[in-house]
Amino acid sequence: MYPPSMQESIRKLEATRQERIRQGKIPLLDAEAKKALLKSFHPDYIETSMRQLQVGPNKGDRTPHELADVLEAWPLVDPKRFDTEHPKFTVDVLVIGGGGAGVAAALTAQENGARVLLTTKLRLGDANTMMAQGGIQAADKENDSPERHYLDVLGGGHFKNIPELARALVTDAPGIIAWLEELGVMFDKQPDGTMITIHGGGTSRKRMHACRDYTGAEIMRTLRDELRNRRIEVLEFCAALELLTDDQGACCGAAFVNLDTNELFTVRAKTVILATGGCGRLHIQGFPCTNHYGATADGLVLAYRAGARLVFIDTIQYHPTGVAYPEQIVGQLITEKVRGLGAHLVNVHGNRFIYELESRDITASAIIRECTERGNGVATPTGRVGVWLDTPLIEILKGEGAVKKNLPAMYHQFARFGIYMDKEPILTYPTQHYQNGGILINDQGETGVKNLYAAGEVAGGIHGRNRLMGNSLLDILVFGRRAGRSAAEKSKIVTLDQPAGFHHLQKFQAELKTAGIPRDRCAPILFPEYRRPELQTPFAFAG
Ligand code: FUM
Repeated sequence: MYPPSMQESIRKLEATRQERIRQGKIPLLDAEAKKALLKSFHPDYIETSMRQLQVGPNKGDRTPHELADVLEAWPLVDPKRFDTEHPKFTVDVLVIGGGGAGVAAALTAQENGARVLLTTKLRLGDANTMMAQGGIQAADKENDSPERHYLDVLGGGHFKNIPELARALVTDAPGIIAWLEELGVMFDKQPDGTMITIHGGGTSRKRMHACRDYTGAEIMRTLRDELRNRRIEVLEFCAALELLTDDQGACCGAAFVNLDTNELFTVRAKTVILATGGCGRLHIQGFPCTNHYGATADGLVLAYRAGARLVFIDTIQYHPTGVAYPEQIVGQLITEKVRGLGAHLVNVHGNRFIYELESRDITASAIIRECTERGNGVATPTGRVGVWLDTPLIEILKGEGAVKKNLPAMYHQFARFGIYMDKEPILTYPTQHYQNGGILINDQGETGVKNLYAAGEVAGGIHGRNRLMGNSLLDILVFGRRAGRSAAEKSKIVTLDQPAGFHHLQKFQAELKTAGIPRDRCAPILFPEYRRPELQTPFAFAG
């Protein structure tokens, strides 16, 4: 239900609808216009939002203050409190992270003969994978090819992507779809059984495979069932606080806290795969986010201290269409599929202002410009602004019932608040969605630290400076599988005869001291802090 102040603008949107349909597609911006738009309106370009790191492998590189604060931080728990000589588990491959990348890595490592332990600080499947809506890209139709997909990935990433990683992504994609189908993922199909594929922003072919608007949940459901059926060991509510290294600097396990019991314990492993996801819950520049509760950059923190180099940490993805109204769900994702189905972005006067399927950084910047410089945003009762997504238009373009059929989860999400998106538009504004950068890996998922691997959002370089829709669900599975395979193979030749410890921390802590980093700045933070300052208490196990 919209208040009268917003309904006035809805009437303007309805009045322009037929003319907008007649108008057809808005032309794409040329390269110069895109550059200028990004420079003036994309949050990454706000000079004061970032600072240079003073410690660690990326010393001198710029990153948002919120990320710098966790990278340049002291251990959350005194390392001396961990018993490294008597690990609770000793395994071949330790996977840290219970989302799509972690589970894909664990399954593949086991298939390759490894004894695997998977740990997660929340429940298995509490991850951004579960929340992914729109789809997964793969060039598996006759009019498409991995080469075309590759060019789109590079175009979206402003040609900054690490080529070998982008190549791995697109090459494995058709096989990943086949693997998911075999495991039981129920993709949207035509009555004759052919896959339905649609466009996403920046795609030159329709290669987005989807399960309505809950693609990630369907994939996660399937992967999680498979993990349980194969009896792979899982520790839930166990948060990784530090990596273990030997005196050669090789990774050989991790130190954990059991969040139910506060027990501190260690795991020895021949190889470790970090699959801890991204940093959305750091709320860069105060943006709301689409991410799950645990997305607090823990893996970046752990790897960085152990000496892993990070890449593209000065670029964050703001999804163009986060919810701007109602207040209860602000920041949550409105899938790009809504625009893929034809919904227009419309300002307070009922006018379009950008081609809806420009790549995400461009569309987000255009919305920010419309709401700030141009003053054409729609105000909400709580003082937010946004632009409309004309969702009833989908019913005209795709036929009656198309909204409910293609976007059932989102339809219900808005209906709970008395907003029926097949009959009235929804209000939207950019929201923090994804970290484009992360730990530098090679095409087997290896990091710069011996025996340490990374997969999924925690890794960087695949997407350059901007990821296209549907390449994240793909990335977590491609690199989860690759890391799982290579970590399992590597574990066959690694011996655990060196003592494990926290050798890497000595150097890192010396740097923190020199840089004057305050002693009360600790990481990983594990969870976002939403309590009022007077109610904030440290973790019982911390210190
Ligand atoms: O818009 C979306 O459905 C998001 C997809 C993605 O980030 O890949």
